[in-house]
Formats: sequence, C-alpha cells, structure tokens
Amino acid sequence: MIKLSDFSSFFVANWKLNGNFQFIDEFINNLMLPKDPSKCVVICPTAIHLDYISKNKNGFYVGAQNVSEHEEGAYTGEISVDSLSDLNVNFCIIGHSERRQIFKEKNEEINLKSERLIDNGLIPIICIGETLEQKEKGITKKVLEEQLMNSVPSSSNFENTIIAYEPVWAIGTGLTPTIEDIDETHRYIREHNEKLNKYKILYGGSVKASNAKEITGLPNVDGALIGGASLKPQEFSVILAD
Ligand code: 13P
Repeated sequence: MIKLSDFSSFFVANWKLNGNFQFIDEFINNLMLPKDPSKCVVICPTAIHLDYISKNKNGFYVGAQNVSEHEEGAYTGEISVDSLSDLNVNFCIIGHSERRQIFKEKNEEINLKSERLIDNGLIPIICIGETLEQKEKGITKKVLEEQLMNSVPSSSNFENTIIAYEPVWAIGTGLTPTIEDIDETHRYIREHNEKLNKYKILYGGSVKASNAKEITGLPNVDGALIGGASLKPQEFSVILAD
C-alpha cells in the first residue's frame, strides 16, 4: 500500500472519458515528471486503458475513476476492487461530481466504495464540492460538511484516504474561487472535524499551468485534481515542474 505520508503533494490527472492507446503513447513520451520525489503523480485513464497504462508507466502511479461497492457477483458492467488490484492500480477517484450528478451517486454509495477500496489497500480520493446554486445560497460549508460526514467511511484515516475539494461550478469552466476562498475552504475541511486534520486535501476545478503553483502553494492545499489540463502533456508537465 502507498504510504501517503511519504509525499508532500499529489497531482492527480482525471482523464474522464478521454484517451486511446495512441494518445497514451504520445502522452507518456511527452510527459516530464518532477525531479522532487515527494511529489506524487497519479494518472487516472478510462477503465479500459488501466491495464495498458499500468504496464507502460514509469515514475507515476495509476488510479481508476470508479469502482463497484460490491466485491463480486451478479453486477453486470461493474468493476471490482480485485480487478483494480490485479492491474496494479493504487488510487481511485470516488464520488466525483459528475458521478454524483449524472449517475446519481449518493454519499452512502460513495462511503461503501471508499470502504471497499480501503479494505483492499487502495487509496480512495473522495471528492466533495458545492454547486453554483448552493454557493449562491451561502450553504457551501453545510454541503461540504454533509458530504464529509456521510461519504468518508469510519475506517478512513489520513494514511489511507485523500480528500479532493472540487467546486462543481469551477469544473471545466475556467472559473476558480479566489485564492483566499480556496485557502479558507480547505482550512474549514481540515478543521471541521479533528479526524480530518492530517488528511491530504487536493483542490480541483480549472487548475492549469497559469494558476497551479499559486493554488498548490497554499498551506492547506496538498495538491491538485486536474481534468482538462491533464490531457495536455506539456501543460501537465508545467503544473508538475519543481
Ligand atoms: P477541470 O480541470 O477540467 O476543470 O476538471 C476538474 C475535474 O473534474 C477533475 O476531477
């Protein structure tokens, strides 16, 4: 199992439903990894490409974008945690807002999936975040608290789980909260409950080469979860650069 405390920061590429074999070859050829070994780089391709990228990886870890809460059995179309382990997958994004909104995933399901991963030595990256409507109503902290309370399993701790804060309105829009707002929200997550104090907390939502250093340099931000910019190897390399 990966020892999270060995790393100072995490840079997780969420490729969503993008990429093919040719793209992966080109991406790996053009990727420049950071020299600093305390920076952990994780690439999360589609489930179909996990095996290929796992066999071709060099200097980064591999993550999945989802897993079944069931161990095995009659669950057509699902992917088990055992299959992920077979492919040397060490991380898994869980409860991304696209899964919460489009696929109607609930906190309870996210909790079970995270627990399944932890039980099998994989690291869940549990996503939380408010929608624009919730932000405008001024209920961001209440929403985050509810997501944290219900989606983080009791077996979770700072050594086996990562939290990712992704404001839904910032995903793929080019909009980001102010630097002060990111810092304040991350501090809130860290301090809202003693248990989360030592967790690694990543920021996601329109992270790009031009804003990554400022965001990930914040004291309460331990790295980034990156969508669009992680599909461009040159730009992703700038985000990773020491
Ligand atoms: P963008 O970086 O494209 O805004 O996506 C963020 C995201 O959803 C990462 O999980």
